Amino acid sequence: MPDAKPEDSHIKARAAELLAQMTVEEKAGQLTQYFAFPGADEQLAGVEAELRAGRAGSLLFVSEAAEIDRLQRIAVEETRLGIPLLFGYDVIHGFKTVMPVPLAMAASWDPEMAETAQAIAAKEARAIGLHWAFAPMVDICRDPRWGRMIEGAGEDPYLGSAMAAAQVRGFQGHYIGAPDRLIAGPKHFAGYGASLGGRDYDEADLSETELWNVHLPPFKAAIEAGAGNIMSAYMGLNGVPASGNRWLLTDILRDAWGFDGFVVTDAGAAADLETHHFAANKEDAAIRALEAGVDMEMAPPREGGSAFRTLPEALKAGRISEARLDEAVLRVLEAKLRMGLFEQPYVDAERAQRVLNAPEHREVARVAAERSVVLLKNAGDLLPLSRDVGSIAVLGPFADAARDMAGPWIFRQDDSETVTVLSGIRAAVGNDTRVDHSIGVSVPKRMHPSIFENPFSPPLPEITVDDDVEIERAVALATEANVAVLVLGEAQIMIGEHASRSTLNLPGRQQELLDRVLETGTPTVLLIMTGRPMDLKGAEPDAQMMIWYPGTSGGEAVANLLFGDAVPGGKMPYNWPRNIGQIPLPYAHLRSFKPEEEHMRYWNERNEPLYPFGFGLSYARFSYANLRLSSDRMAVGETLNVSVDVTNVSEIAADEVVQLYIHQRFGTSARPVRELKGFERVQIGAGQTRTVAFTLTPDQLRYWSAVVRDWVQDATEIDVFVGGSSDADLTARFKVTA
Ligand code: GLC
Repeated sequence: MPDAKPEDSHIKARAAELLAQMTVEEKAGQLTQYFAFPGADEQLAGVEAELRAGRAGSLLFVSEAAEIDRLQRIAVEETRLGIPLLFGYDVIHGFKTVMPVPLAMAASWDPEMAETAQAIAAKEARAIGLHWAFAPMVDICRDPRWGRMIEGAGEDPYLGSAMAAAQVRGFQGHYIGAPDRLIAGPKHFAGYGASLGGRDYDEADLSETELWNVHLPPFKAAIEAGAGNIMSAYMGLNGVPASGNRWLLTDILRDAWGFDGFVVTDAGAAADLETHHFAANKEDAAIRALEAGVDMEMAPPREGGSAFRTLPEALKAGRISEARLDEAVLRVLEAKLRMGLFEQPYVDAERAQRVLNAPEHREVARVAAERSVVLLKNAGDLLPLSRDVGSIAVLGPFADAARDMAGPWIFRQDDSETVTVLSGIRAAVGNDTRVDHSIGVSVPKRMHPSIFENPFSPPLPEITVDDDVEIERAVALATEANVAVLVLGEAQIMIGEHASRSTLNLPGRQQELLDRVLETGTPTVLLIMTGRPMDLKGAEPDAQMMIWYPGTSGGEAVANLLFGDAVPGGKMPYNWPRNIGQIPLPYAHLRSFKPEEEHMRYWNERNEPLYPFGFGLSYARFSYANLRLSSDRMAVGETLNVSVDVTNVSEIAADEVVQLYIHQRFGTSARPVRELKGFERVQIGAGQTRTVAFTLTPDQLRYWSAVVRDWVQDATEIDVFVGGSSDADLTARFKVTA
């Protein structure tokens, strides 16, 4: 691996030399990525034949060092030009050490922590021979019916951009090819999070205003952080499939943003241009994907082979230019050269084992989980609990669910390494405290099987009980205990890809379990394990935490938070609706008409979030004062400094996420009532005051306006709001002069 960033000119020269030796078949091969599922021997035989014929440039889903090494040796030693393969994989939130899901990391509002976590993921994945992560997923989502919200950073482009850039830095380091790092592949370009009805794979219909101001910024931030790859999305966007959309893949990505990496389609999305009834057939699909700006086809096994396999024919027929084909091949070759694959294509399995088992990785996972949990309720300061609380009933289908703790997109975790909530609590309590457990109700089944219930994924744990009997047992334990800790939510296959949902209810008979436990009158802590804002139907646990899917060390982290060794500091990365009927319910909405009746938009209930974007409690309390602006006016193009004093008025040190929002009072377009434009997570000692400062730059005040169909910064008046949530009311106003 290069120990310093290789010179671009050197890279480009070597790529050009290689290109000059390649046949058209080999060129199309470099642009083809095949699935190599472990155990799919017949399919793998086909892939190996393509590989030996020089018609494969990359593989995905191989995740064992020995197998990667074996396949790489075929590419390097048994093909005409010996061009090494690029190995890609879904390293979304950890490889062997499972980190909290990305939405949880976003809820920490701690980009540095997200960067550290993804750097660990990269180190583990690179050690076994992977080169490229299909991550970070940076799709903005305002519809919790969409399962893939779990992979992103929530509803806001500013938080989403910070998390996107941080994860790219974590995966790649300071340059592509840095030791122990991966190529980052932000996805899914673009607008996938706005799929109709939250239904995964359905089309998105977005105005340019929404695209430019909400859905595109995190991709731009990821590219500015140096991302070497972009993955184009499956779905239709405004009638043009994202993977055949030249406006997205060339006009924006290349011409407007200067992206110089390579573009891969999502699985099958090139050939699927025919499925959309956009392309006439597979050959047409390949041509239109390449011409739109796709460089590499991610090709699942398909009758008659991949779409890009038809490119040599298309070239001969003059339907694509060799220049365009060469441009795509050079991008892929340059990525391989930058990653040092020609110098060091093989895997050091011995070193890999050491890296995968480094204990400090699990420490990072624990801290990441601690910083991601959001404390939503704490009536009567029930939390933190005493270790000598005497007796605790730990209940619910996810209290001891190792597989679910990992969340979606994890296929190889070692359940025996995962610390569940139950085992974390057991390890944390004093010797005299009794801990009882019941799952209370079985984990319900999905109506339609998950795509991850397949021969290539580890089988799901089968835990079924007689719910009628087990609920009574759980209720009896809760009745006897001094405290009940309920862990409810969704199984890891009920969220993520191909896991959209039409309600936000607790699946199965979990609501019944919750209601019955609350009826016992025992003080109850509800820990919610999912990414979605569950609708608890008015149930009122004394304390409530969103623990997301907290990963390998999640149980330890949750126990530390429950007993006060760690203090919750996470904040919601989305507005939590009272009722799914309110969706979409973005906090950054317009005033529109009769804003004073915003809470009355429905006659049958109050229209406001249950918990607003940016909300999260602590065991400490903070007060805000002295909001100061460096001036009460600034000219367009200038910057303004904002600062505020935050006091921790409690007796314990704790973190607060200080947030800055703006509202523009008039201009070319009407702008949202609140928009996040700054945040900082700070630790403040007991009784201490800390001044937190922000800078407002023209970039943060500029927006894309449908009036001029371009970016504008208005001469206007702007209200600033600062606090620990998007409903902060400490405010000041400044003018922006022309
Ligand atoms: C999946 C997902 C994409 C993933 C790819 C490879 O269908 O849409 O996010 O990276 O295929 O697994």
